[in-house]
Amino acid sequence: MHSATRVLYMVDAPVDSLNQERRRLESEGRDVINLGQAIPDFGPPLEAMLEFRESLNDSALHRYTPDPGLAELRAVVAASLGPKANGEPVSADEIIITAGANHAFMVACAGIINDGDAVGLLSPYFLNHIMTVQGIGGRPIELLPDESFAYDPSAIERAIEYYRLKALTIVNPSNPTGKSFSREEVAAICDACRKTGIWIFSDEVYRRFDYSANGHTSVLSIRGIEENAIVIGSFSKEFGMTGWRVGWIRVPRKLVSQFLKVQDYSMICAPHPGQILGLNAMRTQPNWVASHIAEYNSRRLALLHFFQERNGFQVYGGQGAFFTWFRPHVDINSQTEVLEIMKQTGVCVMPGSIFGKAWTSWFRISYGTAGIDQLMESVRRIVSYFENH
Ligand SMILES: Cc1ncc(COP(=O)(O)O)c(C=O)c1O
Repeated sequence: MHSATRVLYMVDAPVDSLNQERRRLESEGRDVINLGQAIPDFGPPLEAMLEFRESLNDSALHRYTPDPGLAELRAVVAASLGPKANGEPVSADEIIITAGANHAFMVACAGIINDGDAVGLLSPYFLNHIMTVQGIGGRPIELLPDESFAYDPSAIERAIEYYRLKALTIVNPSNPTGKSFSREEVAAICDACRKTGIWIFSDEVYRRFDYSANGHTSVLSIRGIEENAIVIGSFSKEFGMTGWRVGWIRVPRKLVSQFLKVQDYSMICAPHPGQILGLNAMRTQPNWVASHIAEYNSRRLALLHFFQERNGFQVYGGQGAFFTWFRPHVDINSQTEVLEIMKQTGVCVMPGSIFGKAWTSWFRISYGTAGIDQLMESVRRIVSYFENH
């Protein structure tokens, strides 16, 4: 008896495997600094939690919501997206509340991708995206950037035609590099999708974590793409509520009823308590990240500066999310190395290899959960690990 081949050939849930090893070391009394998983160190706004406490008395809290989610929550999410490029507001009818952004991506893939359809992933990609494409029977195609992590729009267009892509996935700002795509880059990628008539899946879960001068560009603000655009977001990072499992998907109206079939068979609805807390958070502190962004930017700059000052390392200075993407100039397999790094230095980081075949010598630091002092201590230990390699 075997599991399905699709699952058998997937990588083991990589973050969870690393976390297990971290917990094992911690159970032996080791103190491990966790720069692995992408979680912020702040929780939801206090007012939102206090309001949530009140709703515990409401028996409806323990029941399903409508499949697409609470009407009020759909409306505030729609409003948070601002007007589309054609000037029309995003309507609440275009929003489905999901059990997190991973579930949203699964709904998008199950709703659009047929067996064997090719789905382009800008590489390095978010590891759960490739797993989802594989899991629903699609064919992931990795599209590589140049040395400066820019994607050539004409190469994207050629790949769309050569591989007959059904959809292209972009994560902006990017996990794992932290790249914040400029308006011109987003427009060029959208243009390639529009010209070739394919879908664009835009994961914008880090939209509020953007340190660039011009801020985040959503694909929805690009003229002519709204009918091809599936936009994904989440409460996990914006409101520090990864455990509550609430996200959302913006879908062109013509697709909503089809996507709701997937929603119904997979989750019925997103968790009701999470939707209530998310609604309270959006109402009381719609841009909760703003009160943390200066601190996050200082962490980003300190890490960038640290690696730029060292010989023997390449670092990518992305302007979004909360990741530092670096590699030592030694021939290395990051997949196995992260375990050794954790054992010897007591610092947990993510191996680049899980974000695409081309990235075996790279590593991702998440600076979401550690202050500057702890980050500096961690990278000093990592550098001395490689210097003694
Ligand atoms: C790019 C990206 N998309 C989706 C997710 C999953 O988010 P959620 O907790 O909303 O499922 C993550 C989490 O790390 C992520 O980095």
